[in-house]
Amino acid sequence: MLKGKHVLIGVSGGIAAYKSVELASMLKKQGAIVKIIMTKNAQEFVTPLTFKSITGESVSYTMFDEEKPIEHIALADWAEIFIIAPATANVIGKIANGIADDLLSTCFLAGKAIKIIVPAMNVYMYENKVVQRNIQTLRDLGYLVLDPDIGYLACGYSGKGRFPESREIVDAIKVFSYFGTKIISLQNKKILITAGANREKIDPMRFISNRSSGKMGVSLAKAAALMGAKVMLIHAHIEEKVPYYIDSIKAETANLMYNEVMGIADNYDIIIMCAAVADYTIEDPANEKIKKKENISLQLSRTKDILFELGQRKKDNQILVGFAAESEDMIDNAKAKMIKKNCTHIIANSLYTSGKDETEQVLISKDKELKLIGSKLETACKIIEEIVK
Ligand SMILES: Cc1cc2nc3c(=O)[nH]c(=O)nc-3n(C[C@H](O)[C@H](O)[C@H](O)COP(=O)(O)O)c2cc1C
Repeated sequence: MLKGKHVLIGVSGGIAAYKSVELASMLKKQGAIVKIIMTKNAQEFVTPLTFKSITGESVSYTMFDEEKPIEHIALADWAEIFIIAPATANVIGKIANGIADDLLSTCFLAGKAIKIIVPAMNVYMYENKVVQRNIQTLRDLGYLVLDPDIGYLACGYSGKGRFPESREIVDAIKVFSYFGTKIISLQNKKILITAGANREKIDPMRFISNRSSGKMGVSLAKAAALMGAKVMLIHAHIEEKVPYYIDSIKAETANLMYNEVMGIADNYDIIIMCAAVADYTIEDPANEKIKKKENISLQLSRTKDILFELGQRKKDNQILVGFAAESEDMIDNAKAKMIKKNCTHIIANSLYTSGKDETEQVLISKDKELKLIGSKLETACKIIEEIVK
């Protein structure tokens, strides 16, 4: 999603400046062309040479350079994505108030790129009403602000203000650049998403499960939450980390997932059932480890059909999206499932994309079939865009 994109990173003078070296490196590995602007204070933390070595591009930090007299406009024009990471309280305050007193703040004002801000600071600085007001001002003006992570901070405090992991920032850049300025369209929407593979207990050690990795469900949750929706992710076993900005509940078995989903489903505008829910559970799981014998038989019983029940109680304006993972007759089977379960949309996909980053899907609704190919994050963005249209 970032191949060949011009990404300009503005680095300001926070302790997390060193972490944006990793961010620059990761963006470059994803095929982006990365240039850097540093504030004077950022250079107290990391040298321009470090960024230059990582990006292979020049690093800019001065306004009044005889060699490059109008660098602030040249860089602003060059950038397709302009991200300030880390953004200090100082730089946030400046850009929220139109102050342009150095290369970074001037360039940010001049650019027409997608503009993203990643605040990182001490928890009390972050909670300060002036800082919060400035962040809100930026959001209201259409700037994309990625919430900081919560956890241990360099100052010794614990709380909100941590610079997110580079991987999370890269995914946020992908989602933000996909949607561009359409980003606020999901605000006030509540979206419930399920993900992953149920594990049905055989004994305390063993279970039956399936190959779902949860990547698709987590990607959908990321795309929706970053677009401003209030997302709840109910997940079984997943191989992906749930991002810090998404609320989640773990429901390992099909029955636990049924209870969690049914308990809150009515409160949601959109429900996306992406989990590979177990169709069968072990009737009588053993409380002690089953000893090795010759052959054994497991008695399986049907689990409750969550999607079907959601379809039965669906409110008129509720969007219900199902997934149909098929190994044959993908489209026909998916269409039949959409009708049987009373879904508004169904995503048909091949079983063989489970666990992979790339996918091929067909988004089916009453009057449309749309082929989606790409990374799961990219198709997640397309699905979210289509279903809220
Ligand atoms: C060791 C140290 C760490 C700092 N870390 C942060 C930080 O994480 N976030 C922040 O907003 N300010 C931080 N500051 C304060 C900024 O450096 C200060 O506000 C400065 O004026 C920011 O300048 P700039 O925004 O032009 O880069 C830190 C200062 C010091 C001395």
